[in-house]
Amino acid sequence: MLRTIKRRARETLAAVQYNRYSRHLSAYDIDLSFTQAAQRFSTRQELYRYMHHYFHHLAPKELREHREWFSRENRGFGEDAFHAMWFLLLREFRPQRCLEIGVYRGQIISLWALIADLLGLRGEIHGISPFSSAGDQVSSYVEIDYLSDTLQSFAKFSQKKPELLKAYSTDPAARDYIASKQWDMIYIDGSHDFDIVLSDYRLSLSSLALGALLVMDDSSLRSDYRPLLFSFGGHPGPSDVFDKIAAQEMKFLGGVGHNNVLVKTRTTEDGATK
Ligand SMILES: C[S@@+](CC[C@H](N)C(=O)[O-])C[C@H]1O[C@@H](n2cnc3c(N)ncnc32)[C@H](O)[C@@H]1O
Repeated sequence: MLRTIKRRARETLAAVQYNRYSRHLSAYDIDLSFTQAAQRFSTRQELYRYMHHYFHHLAPKELREHREWFSRENRGFGEDAFHAMWFLLLREFRPQRCLEIGVYRGQIISLWALIADLLGLRGEIHGISPFSSAGDQVSSYVEIDYLSDTLQSFAKFSQKKPELLKAYSTDPAARDYIASKQWDMIYIDGSHDFDIVLSDYRLSLSSLALGALLVMDDSSLRSDYRPLLFSFGGHPGPSDVFDKIAAQEMKFLGGVGHNNVLVKTRTTEDGATK
């Protein structure tokens, strides 16, 4: 009983804060690239607020419609600010070959396709996932036909065709798939267990092109980001991989809530690029 009252009170406060953050503010009413935004709004709190504001006031309305559809009936996770983050990343870096590790019901791959259509970008969209209810130490998922659900949702937003591999990212077929191509952008959002995130990170890094982007989800617990009542800081596994390893080996471009954006900038002595 007490727990229910506390949960309801928290939800009410979160809704109040969300509405306050969604109001128009002239300080954030400026259309910047992702890099410019990360420089101008240099704290995580400010950059999150800029992205949240961008989503509500500057982004194409199609992004809000897309988010609204995926939020309905719990078709996806994430936060409004992330839709703005993806829009600004794709507009600035124009990645050709993109991969999501851990497709749930197609929210992110269909968003990439929608944004690519809006910007006139051509390119490939790939996804690797078990397309099952497979969870991990911190997540569990409902039982549905994930592959057909993902394809149906995708087709609602774009005529592009995603290239999907039904596998765990650690399966030999998935490892070969990732290693067989040079990627311009990889988004890691599969298992949240440390060893698997680390394996996804290592494989991604070695298969990214120079100058390519790596986005790590759920990875800001060890950062100075203080989640708002309607946002989430991340999980221990991805946060440790980001904080202890990725942030040391790659160039950090900016953090939007629990998402962290990194760039592969250099080649090591053994020929691998970091
Ligand atoms: C948090 S969800 C991804 C959410 C998605 N990015 C979105 O916004 O809709 C994680 C997904 O990764 C899948 N998954 C779990 N373990 C995985 C693994 N080892 N490799 C790839 N995907 C995995 C889960 O089944 C789930 O569909």
